[in-house]
Amino acid sequence: MVNFFVLRSSKMESKLTVLGVLLLVTQILGYRPVVLIHGIMTGSGSMEMISHRIQEKHPGTIVYNVNRFESWSSLETMWHQVLEIGLDVANISSRYPEGINLIGYSQGGLIARGIVETFPNVSVSTFISLSSPQAGQYGAGFLHLVFPGLLKDSAYELFYSRVGQHTSVGNYWNDPYHQTLFESYSVFLPYLNNHIKSAKSDDFKNNLLKLKRLVLIGGPDDNVITPWQSSQFGYYNTNETVIEMKEQDIYREDRIGLRALDESGRLHVVTVPGVNHFSWHMNVSIVDDYLLPFLD
Ligand SMILES: *[C@@H]1O[C@H](CO)[C@@H](O)[C@H](O)[C@H]1NC(C)=O
Ligand SMILES: *[C@@H]1O[C@H](CO)[C@@H](O)[C@H](O)[C@H]1NC(C)=O
Ligand SMILES: *[C@@H]1O[C@H](CO)[C@@H](O)[C@H](O)[C@H]1NC(C)=O
Ligand SMILES: *[C@@H]1O[C@H](CO)[C@@H](O)[C@H](O)[C@H]1NC(C)=O
Repeated sequence: MVNFFVLRSSKMESKLTVLGVLLLVTQILGYRPVVLIHGIMTGSGSMEMISHRIQEKHPGTIVYNVNRFESWSSLETMWHQVLEIGLDVANISSRYPEGINLIGYSQGGLIARGIVETFPNVSVSTFISLSSPQAGQYGAGFLHLVFPGLLKDSAYELFYSRVGQHTSVGNYWNDPYHQTLFESYSVFLPYLNNHIKSAKSDDFKNNLLKLKRLVLIGGPDDNVITPWQSSQFGYYNTNETVIEMKEQDIYREDRIGLRALDESGRLHVVTVPGVNHFSWHMNVSIVDDYLLPFLD
């Protein structure tokens, strides 16, 4: 700006025009595109309200609402969904050098994190995880959606097996009483969280650290994500006491970059009471108060 004002007046006029056009373009193209990823046993239709509200309040925003792995196919393995949806998101991302914003609801938020961690060619500015089991799931609320009659105490017998790992839920089932089995059978969550080190661990962390913002939304009245603090990387210890994110090794040892994001002011942990799991994506005030402010 200082340079601008020392320009001679003849050049000033054209500079002003250029500035005006730039401002106009910024207004029109002001918001980054948003990619939405739906939850388990539903599809893109369940994310329509969020899509419409973003476009209403942030006119001009392009919204991509992922319609892969809807309904029963949402039970396909997590790595498969991360790869397939990730290729689409990489394709979208390649068209927007300034980056995209990513919102995943429930299981979709865990798929979204998988994409951020594994695709170096996906450039995400803000990633919002909307009530997603980021540290895993150990509760009947989720189970009964898909496996009626399966009890949480014995679900590990199914999920911690070769066969059980062929379902998405098995991939993030985290039974605090059977951690050894979790570590030996689960092919997804222990790796994504760098709980088990692999050749990819450094990439996972470096990719997550490229985010401008990580927003973790969850709340005590969720009643499906169990414990609800899993939406914010808190989890049960071995006697089912919840240990908050900042006391977890994933944060303390900065295994995936959470602490670095936090210390650089890029981690936003948002707790909203009074919202049931099936309301997050249906509640306009959630979009207005907790999603839109992070989308630019
Ligand atoms: C992004 O990277 C993956 C490999 O990680 C590759 O298969 C894919 O073609 C790339 N997509 C684009 C649009 O560059
Ligand atoms: C990227 O998306 C466009 C438009 O949907 C499509 O035509 C193209 O084949 C895609 N490219 C890749 C590498 O998937
Ligand atoms: C459960 O674990 C917490 C934290 O490690 C500990 O303070 C508490 O005494 C334990 N409770 C029982 C019943 O063992
Ligand atoms: C909608 O969200 C607000 C918080 O923004 C919450 O207070 C309210 O209880 C929610 N309503 C429903 C029906 O979930």
